[in-house]
Amino acid sequence: MSDAEALKVLETEIRAAIQAAGGVLSFRRFMDLALYAPGLGYYERRSTRIGRAGDFMTSVSTGPLFGELLAAQIAEWSRARCLQDSTVSLVESGAHTGRLAADILEALCRDAPDVFERVIYTLMEPSAIRRDWQRETLESWNGCTRWITGWSELQTGVRGVILTNELLDAFPVTRYIWEASRERWLEAGVQCIDEGFGWARLESATTDRVAELLGHPLPLELLAVLPEGFALDLAAGAAEWWSEAARALTSGRLITFDYGLEASEFLTPKYASGTLRGYLKHRTARDELASPGAADLTAHVNFTTLRQAGVEAGLETEFMGSQRVFLTEVFARRPAMAMGSEAEKASRLRQFHALTHPEHLGRAFRVLVQHRVTPGQ
Ligand SMILES: C[S@@+](CC[C@H](N)C(=O)[O-])C[C@H]1O[C@@H](n2cnc3c(N)ncnc32)[C@H](O)[C@@H]1O
Repeated sequence: MSDAEALKVLETEIRAAIQAAGGVLSFRRFMDLALYAPGLGYYERRSTRIGRAGDFMTSVSTGPLFGELLAAQIAEWSRARCLQDSTVSLVESGAHTGRLAADILEALCRDAPDVFERVIYTLMEPSAIRRDWQRETLESWNGCTRWITGWSELQTGVRGVILTNELLDAFPVTRYIWEASRERWLEAGVQCIDEGFGWARLESATTDRVAELLGHPLPLELLAVLPEGFALDLAAGAAEWWSEAARALTSGRLITFDYGLEASEFLTPKYASGTLRGYLKHRTARDELASPGAADLTAHVNFTTLRQAGVEAGLETEFMGSQRVFLTEVFARRPAMAMGSEAEKASRLRQFHALTHPEHLGRAFRVLVQHRVTPGQ
């Protein structure tokens, strides 16, 4: 099926879902279909999505340095007492084509062979299509890679590192809108209009429920000054995912790189229209509902609820800060990064700049690292 045909079929499926829902479909379900409808959604079709030729850049698509720095950090963690003599289990979710896994394995094999020989790299991937792409990319790493579709397939707890890069910002969000005149929250939905789709109001949600999902109180004094139409885009699935990951971790680290906010920041005027964005060819789409399946849809991650979910599962927070600070510290501990030919050094510098400069990925992207403290660590 061509890309255009797939988009047509997807549109028909979304229209049918709206009809089946009685005329208004929750935005969360709309986003889920637009991104993940099997064989049809944005992340289910082969076209180039990520990188210069696609719709947006990620740290992985800037080049192999991101994976090299992560590998250096993983090697350091793997030589600590709690993992010193055991198999090191690396579990990645949201791997897309598997590029980051390949970069990490290559760097470990070259720079940290003592760790590489103990590594099993597991890609947790629910989509059959994306598993095929990943197997292709990782063909030469057959001996140390494996795949699972979800947490229930893990045979033992993870002793090592569970990692994600821009996984959680791709989780479908529920949009809540503040109706100031009636002092209530309404869930936003999607309806069919003429040739396309439009926003509609679904049902009301209690302030307690919205505050719980936001991970921040919404007292009356605050609600009194929230403007009409203030929007919160909240992905309940992200904290649930983090909680499962934290429970799966027996020993080691859980780490994510993502753009996102603390819960209180979602309530600032800057984000009054929510954080949901559509991306197409490196531009923000003006209407997020305009091209389901053709444009990426993404929203800021709520780091407060992630951290809280980890702590509730018994983890301790080790680092929460900008990607710039995190990667600069790793880079500074690796003198080998400044070696090589002039061309290699120049290329690494270019990538490091893209990863850490505040105007590129350095400020907007944040890093959360939590670990499970094991006795005698
Ligand atoms: C923004 S892309 C990031 C891809 C890659 N990590 C990178 O940095 O280039 C998000 C990826 O997460 C995947 N994804 C979304 N939900 C997922 C889930 N529940 N399990 C595994 N992958 C998921 C999407 O299919 C997509 O491949």
